[in-house]
Amino acid sequence: MASTARVVLDRDFVVGDIDRRLFGSFVEHLGRTVYGGLYEPGDPQADEHGFRGDVAQLVRELGVTLVRYPGGNFVSGYRWEDGVGPREQRPHRLDLAWRTTETNEIGVNEFMQWARLVDVEPLMVVNLGTRGIEDACRLLEYCNHPAGSQLSDLRRRHGAADPHDIRIWGLGNEMDGPWQLGHKTAHEYGRLAAETARAMRQVDDRIQLVAAGSSKREMETFPDWDRTVLDLAYDDVDFLALHQYYPSDRGSLEDFLASGVDLDAYIREALATCDYVRARRRNPRQMQISFDEWNVIHPHPGEEERMEPWVRNQPRGEGAYTLAETVVYGDLLIALLRHCDRVRIGCEALLINVGAPIRADAGRAAWRQSTFYPFSQAARWARGSVLITEVSSDTFETSEHGPVPLVEAVATHEDGAPEIALFAVNRATTQEVSLRCEVRGFGPIESLEHHLLGGGEPESTGGDALQPRSFPAAAPREPGLLEASLPPLSWNVLRVRLSRADG
Ligand code: AHR
Repeated sequence: MASTARVVLDRDFVVGDIDRRLFGSFVEHLGRTVYGGLYEPGDPQADEHGFRGDVAQLVRELGVTLVRYPGGNFVSGYRWEDGVGPREQRPHRLDLAWRTTETNEIGVNEFMQWARLVDVEPLMVVNLGTRGIEDACRLLEYCNHPAGSQLSDLRRRHGAADPHDIRIWGLGNEMDGPWQLGHKTAHEYGRLAAETARAMRQVDDRIQLVAAGSSKREMETFPDWDRTVLDLAYDDVDFLALHQYYPSDRGSLEDFLASGVDLDAYIREALATCDYVRARRRNPRQMQISFDEWNVIHPHPGEEERMEPWVRNQPRGEGAYTLAETVVYGDLLIALLRHCDRVRIGCEALLINVGAPIRADAGRAAWRQSTFYPFSQAARWARGSVLITEVSSDTFETSEHGPVPLVEAVATHEDGAPEIALFAVNRATTQEVSLRCEVRGFGPIESLEHHLLGGGEPESTGGDALQPRSFPAAAPREPGLLEASLPPLSWNVLRVRLSRADG
């Protein structure tokens, strides 16, 4: 017998508006994301600048709004000056983070040219690992100052007459991680972040700044890192960055399927930490979260050991996602949306080839991985505001999280639009769930469209289960009642048409 999940929505109960920057992604100089991904001169798909047109087309189709660049661990040893000016004069450098050779064919000007091509906002990260305040200010001057200073005039000589006008800046990457070049204590980093932020705002006071919070919930230093950094930098930054990846081989399948619960707990704990510091500092402004690296990880045993040092563009993280991984990916998106009032920026990581929704090989048309579909559907249909979405369902047992609900969901509605979208995952591996959703305060429901991915073996990496399907669903049997059947292990979008055009 199918299990039942009950969902209740009410037009008057809203979490907050959705910042479009929640649908961001990440381009790092890593694996085949830049070279062999978005940039492949000589490829039949490449334009005159070497940017692949098919990749750019898929980036637009994915609905990505913002891209974080250039790293990641890479940025903590990066010298941005190496990547500007005449290409033939750019140095080949050892990239110590990933132990490859960086040719610097792509730098900040090319990235901005590509960002305009695919219509995304940049989130530029500065190197606070091996470099510091002066270098961050110099990069900002180069990018944003209109003209009349040494570095703005240099940019103009490099062919970028107009300032790039980059508004969001990251203050280093994962500085809490011992793996990071220039790893720091929370106190060292908090002071540096605050001083860098103040200096950067003196260069351009329109920018928003992101401080590096914890690089995963399991860090021993979480949440003390975040508390100390914010104690020192709260007044100078706009966002705290969080990162989290969920490897599918870390525990049992059940624990992996509960990753959305873990992400939700991590966000709540980080927000509690932010609010604690806010109270201590008597600061009326709420800190926002930039969840600027998140994803599931498909295992690639022995990959790190197989990497040849200093060899360029070696494939990393290019395996196909399984159904279980794809459903968890959708579940993570739901968790971020449920916190949309405080999580204002999100970057699924990465965008191309490395654990990415978009895949590209030389000489072959770029293609979509299964995670492309939950992301593109959420970016397209999660509009306006998130409604408080109360869900109750049966549970399954996990060792890390105890009993976990079979179903998680979130609903969105845009004022004035005659539509509600409900995003739901069924985490059960074998059980179908009948969803009954009471939609209150919107008037009659007219019709329903069901977009679905799933209903197969957790380990499958192809076949029908990983192809998105859409079908019209049955008309409501009772006014305001939305019903749908969620197959085992599935990602679902229910698009509900309202008969009142004012929604
Ligand atoms: O995304 C790959 C790496 O994962 C990033 O460089 C780093 O920030 C994170 O640990």
